[in-house]
Amino acid sequence: MADNDKTYAPSAEMAAGAHADRATYEAMYAASVADPDAFWGEHGKRLDWMTPYTKVKNTSFAPGNIDIKWFEDGSLNVAANCIDRHLATRGTQTAIIWEPDDPEAGAQHITYQQLHAHVSKFANVLKEMGVGKGDRVVIYLPMIPQAAYAMLACARIGAIHSVVFAGFSADALAARVNGSEAKVVITADEAPRGGRNTPLKVNADKAFEKVTVDSKMLVVKRTGGDIAMTAGRDVWLHEMEETVSADCPPEEMNAEDPLFILYTSGSTGQPKGVVHTTGGYLVYASMTHQYTFDYHDGDVFWCTADVGWVTGHSYIVYGPLANGATTLMFEGVPTYPDAGRFWQVCEEHKVNQFYTAPTAIRALMGKGNAFVEKYDLSALKVLGTVGEPINPEAWNWYNDVVGGGNVPIVDTWWQTETGGHLLTPLPGATPTKPGSATLPFFGVKPVVLEPETGKEITTTEAEGVLAIADSWPSQMRTIWGDHDRFEMTYFSQYKDMFFSGDGCRRDADGYYWITGRVDDVINVSGHRMGTAEVESALVAHTAVNEAAVVGYPHDIKGQGIYAYVSLMAGQDPSEELRKELSDWVRAEIGPIAKPDLIQFAPGLPKTRSGKIMRRILRKIAENDYGALGDTSTLAEPEVVDDLIANRMNKG
Ligand code: WTA
Repeated sequence: MADNDKTYAPSAEMAAGAHADRATYEAMYAASVADPDAFWGEHGKRLDWMTPYTKVKNTSFAPGNIDIKWFEDGSLNVAANCIDRHLATRGTQTAIIWEPDDPEAGAQHITYQQLHAHVSKFANVLKEMGVGKGDRVVIYLPMIPQAAYAMLACARIGAIHSVVFAGFSADALAARVNGSEAKVVITADEAPRGGRNTPLKVNADKAFEKVTVDSKMLVVKRTGGDIAMTAGRDVWLHEMEETVSADCPPEEMNAEDPLFILYTSGSTGQPKGVVHTTGGYLVYASMTHQYTFDYHDGDVFWCTADVGWVTGHSYIVYGPLANGATTLMFEGVPTYPDAGRFWQVCEEHKVNQFYTAPTAIRALMGKGNAFVEKYDLSALKVLGTVGEPINPEAWNWYNDVVGGGNVPIVDTWWQTETGGHLLTPLPGATPTKPGSATLPFFGVKPVVLEPETGKEITTTEAEGVLAIADSWPSQMRTIWGDHDRFEMTYFSQYKDMFFSGDGCRRDADGYYWITGRVDDVINVSGHRMGTAEVESALVAHTAVNEAAVVGYPHDIKGQGIYAYVSLMAGQDPSEELRKELSDWVRAEIGPIAKPDLIQFAPGLPKTRSGKIMRRILRKIAENDYGALGDTSTLAEPEVVDDLIANRMNKG
């Protein structure tokens, strides 16, 4: 049992200088769950409110009435909190360090004053294009400062942004533009990454062939590459900026007005638009940023995520900037020009808190220690991980080689839906164990349920599925345009609880260990992917009759994508077709969805009622077919013999 695992206690020095030591954490946690109104009423004051709230928590998880409101009678503006309120005290401090893909190009430092000027202009450009309070804007940009400006510009005028990861395909972009009925899509000519340029504007043009709503395009000049502009639809940001005023007063927003929509994968159907609102989200993002990373004034904070994911929203843009931090934005990839890039950037900018994903750690670990040891990492005070369970081997390498054995690691468990960290150590408070996300953040009530009955397991040691018993301020409020689906997805399986979709174990010390998704969501390189999405892309190909997709263990990615495909009559299962199908999925969704293994199968294992038996497909993909379990309900047992004989993962 993991209780015997080695624990790493915070050093006395760390505990003494931290926002929270053990005793503070315990006292604050107890207060936060005993009286959420009092606790969050107090901590909500970390923001500047235009109208102070008098109500704090008003939330219901009751069937038929899922209703979540925090600070509901308060008003504020997120951009004013992330920029304007810092101007008097830290106007000349760097807000954003931008590190471009090409290390030779040199970093940019953007001060809070400059950020204010950029965002105000950008906001006026959006207004000029007809965007107003409550309108949606899609952001499809590389990791450039304009991505942060665009998000904050929307927040400033009360528009709702929906950031679409630049690695997503034209089709995926079109679906999100249509889904949110966006008035404007912000993109760039090209996106440099790892020394190559992705033709972003070309993708956006392709997407617009399928865009059915009236939408304009605002284009950022990043590389100066040759692109086509459609008259009457497309405009350049830099040209528009010349025509607008530099003054844009922040719009007064109710705490419960939507701040953003972010599409994420679920176990069924197409991605859903997770909606986060203004007040509670920012309170929680800023508080977790401060406590989880033990951020102090003057520190340089680097989260390596992309702003296309929730991690980039909460911990590159909103949390750090609300705290007046210096946040680093990196355009490139960990292995370009070589596997030392992360550490070179850490040295160059004296990064104090570094936050990345286990998949990156594993990839870099495989390149050897020399890439790390070449650089001075002595400024590092906290290391963070997010996105998937971290295997102890990677944890130890992060700890020993990157942290030199004396930098605490925070393994943060959370989701797009949760807006911020729910389970995490605090660097000065929580002894860590490799692979455990440890204990709940303030205000979070995790429960472990029996998967079948939904009964809460109340013993300290427990194994089951993870749910959260009560609301926290940055909980998602709804699915864009589909509140019923919100209730169905998160509150119907287990009554009066928010269901996470993750399995977990609680050890004798009350520590939580996430065991991975228990639904049909897989986690590929820390990116969430619904198997249903990949399946629907595959069956959209004319050669494919049926497809079933499962995850299998992958050394670097955590999980790889394993697709079983049965072909239409008359189609030959050739290597060319295998490649074609791979490329097809890549084009339909994006490179992250490309199957690692495709197995052609004459048939898929089904129950007599025609339901695909995924349990069996998972076992075969895991090369663990000795343990297939009960196969007596199979309609055609011989299908399984063929699947085993021709399995793709023989390792
Ligand atoms: C997984 C990313 C183990 C989990 C912030 C969750 C993790 C999904 C961890 C959410 C962690 C995230 N340990 N698993 N520290 N962090 N996950 O929405 O399965 O992209 O449900 O949010 O990632 O992924 P999402």
